[in-house]
Amino acid sequence: AAWEKQVRHSSTPRRPNGFSVLVTGAAGFVGSHCSLALKKRGDGVLGLDNFNSYYDPSLKRARQKLLLKHQVFIVEGDLNDEPLLAKLFDVVPFTHILHLAAQAGVRYAMQNPQSYVSSNIAGFVNLLEVAKAANPQPAIVWASSSSVYGLNTQVPFSETHRTDQPASLYAATKKAGEEIAHTYNHIYGLSLTGLRFFTVYGPWGRPDMAYFFFTKDILQGKPIDIYQTQDEKQVARDFTYIDDVVKGCIGALDTAEKSTGSGGKKKAPAQLRVYNLGNTSPVLVGKLVSILESLLHTKAKKHVIKMPRNGDVPYTHANVSLAYRDFGYKPTTDLSTGLRKFVKWYVSYYGIQTRVKKENEINSEHTED
Ligand code: NAD
Ligand code: UGA
Repeated sequence: AAWEKQVRHSSTPRRPNGFSVLVTGAAGFVGSHCSLALKKRGDGVLGLDNFNSYYDPSLKRARQKLLLKHQVFIVEGDLNDEPLLAKLFDVVPFTHILHLAAQAGVRYAMQNPQSYVSSNIAGFVNLLEVAKAANPQPAIVWASSSSVYGLNTQVPFSETHRTDQPASLYAATKKAGEEIAHTYNHIYGLSLTGLRFFTVYGPWGRPDMAYFFFTKDILQGKPIDIYQTQDEKQVARDFTYIDDVVKGCIGALDTAEKSTGSGGKKKAPAQLRVYNLGNTSPVLVGKLVSILESLLHTKAKKHVIKMPRNGDVPYTHANVSLAYRDFGYKPTTDLSTGLRKFVKWYVSYYGIQTRVKKENEINSEHTED
């Protein structure tokens, strides 16, 4: 069928020994960037995404359009659709899965808890069941989260630190994912690598994240809420630029061991790995706002809330020496540089170039004064 043809075409590598990668969440922020980067270096990439409306689906469609231009096809379907996943594996002998599909976001878990259980736990198990039965078994790299460190205050976070105090249901489902991965590695020899991303930002980003809607609200003159910690200190995040995260994902794929099982049976133990992918340089949310103010040449209407946002952790800070040791991961983009690139994308995507440009001109007149 035409569908099968597209699936085969998209997932065929164009370089010798290239990978054939199934990218779940390919219409998402991190998934779309990783899919493009893998395709550009000659790997075969097939996307899977359910295009849910957790945030503006038109942004997901726009990413899909961009991917299609580069011959990356996204199958529209859900992680929980076992027959669909099994069919994909029948058609394509994937060498790798980059599993990024999930219900993300910390606060939304209080409105729709079941969506986290369904995508991050049941959906992950479903994918692992299909991968375990595949012959050959693909190596799997999947997105965990810095949120697993929860209320841990020992910074910077190392992979060996405790992760038994999640502060949100989102964090609990990501932590559960790590435990589930352990069992599939242990019993079936699946090669599994978990990546704990730290607050990732950049062009084509997620509208539900603070840097994104702060930009929107500042430009529209609307007030923004800045939450503090329990002791009324400022919250800090180890904001990590998307290109650094993409390099980390590819490094993890390149160094993933082969799975040691096939058709549901294990032959020898395989590695289970977990890495921090952060920026190693936490920034206060107040500082994030002041960088945006200067890039947008607009003062924010700040509304400081003297308590934490429900489900939030006070600060995050990654030690990335393990990822550096194993695949040379080294973040290279500081927050000002990364946000500049985000703002440039934002004004062009939403067609508000002229306004910011005008403000830029006014500002440079002031500076010259
Ligand atoms: P995103 O929401 O932009 O991407 C996730 C994609 O998965 C979406 O396009 C969504 O439609 C799809 N999806 C969700 N549930 C699905 C399901 N059941 N079946 C099929 N598709 C489904 O989020 P992102 O920021 O790109 O995050 C990617 C991954 O990284 C997620 O696992 C997220 O939890 C994790 N993560 C992200 C950050 C960050 O700051 N962006 C930080 C830590 C961890
Ligand atoms: C982000 C992602 O949204 C999660 O999906 C991801 O798992 C997590 O990173 C991670 O690193 O694991 P978070 O850091 O909470 O979560 O990102 P935002 O929601 O963008 O919040 C960033 C900071 O801004 C937080 O400190 C939050 O307290 C603050 N904030 C948020 C405000 O001060 N005001 C707001 O209105 C919203």
